[in-house]
Amino acid sequence: MKFVLDEEKVAMLKQCIAQHKQKPGPLMPSLHDAQHIFGCIPIEVQKIISEELNESVAKINGVVTFYSNFTTEPKGKHVISVCLGTACYVKGAKEILEQIQDLLHINPGETSSDGMFTLENTRCIGACGLAPVFKIDEKVYGAANKDIAKKAIEEALKA
Ligand code: FES
Repeated sequence: MKFVLDEEKVAMLKQCIAQHKQKPGPLMPSLHDAQHIFGCIPIEVQKIISEELNESVAKINGVVTFYSNFTTEPKGKHVISVCLGTACYVKGAKEILEQIQDLLHINPGETSSDGMFTLENTRCIGACGLAPVFKIDEKVYGAANKDIAKKAIEEALKA
């Protein structure tokens, strides 16, 4: 999916950054605002933050890529997260992940070309008792298998 830099959103972000600059440590809150406003923090947005905060793009990029709540690409309408923590992995999470990859023709970290789904791997989400587990947006699917994954995707497509 192609990212488009919207001037109104840029103005909104600059306003937020100006406020954060009044206090110590403006980088993290500025990044959170950027993620919220644009839905991602691609290099074009990182450059704006760099200019406004007088920080190098390299430093900003390092922070963006380190924290999983920041993304450099726009996410799809639905985000599918497959837990690959130990409990889920031993109970077959990898097969579920492969099934979803096959169905959507995307790899983890990618978004389908129709913009409907982003696929992610995640570490333990604290629901090991329900392993293997995957999520579509905030909904958790426990004791999952390939069929459940297929049906869940079909449901999300209809929603
Ligand atoms: S390992 Fe998957 S929820 Fe804990």
